Amino acid sequence: MQLDDLYRRVIMDHYKNPRNRGSFEGESVSIDLNNPTCGDKIQLQMQVEDGKVKAAKFLGEGCSISLSSASMMTEAVKGKTLEEALQMADQFSGLMKGEPTEFEYEDIDALSGVNKFPARIKCATLAWNALRKGIDQVKENK
Ligand code: FES
Ligand code: FES
Repeated sequence: MQLDDLYRRVIMDHYKNPRNRGSFEGESVSIDLNNPTCGDKIQLQMQVEDGKVKAAKFLGEGCSISLSSASMMTEAVKGKTLEEALQMADQFSGLMKGEPTEFEYEDIDALSGVNKFPARIKCATLAWNALRKGIDQVKENK
């Protein structure tokens, strides 16, 4: 099997069986963001306790790249400190610039091919931008 095939399967698996799709009943940080190039929207919610992301969930419409990226991101940040989550967002920006990087949550590596397609970079980055905004919001509310 070619690597590209494997990566496409990982992306489609997250798209068809999204992890952490939904919203919380209780208190959480909530961010709504849209992709200006296509108008697709994402809502990200995070439960943060003691400076750590206890859980993250998302809702929204979008393409397979944006939704699979949201699925991966919400899975990857679980249990991480806000600083670690921010570092991961930086790491993801690096991946979108074509920098060689490997994620602890390795499904994210499947999005590495996206960096060749500028329009799709915006799709893949949407959830991570929502994460950054969410972290900013937590810090402001302190
Ligand atoms: Fe996202 Fe085309 S703008 S796939
Ligand atoms: Fe809209 Fe990808 S085409 S988020």
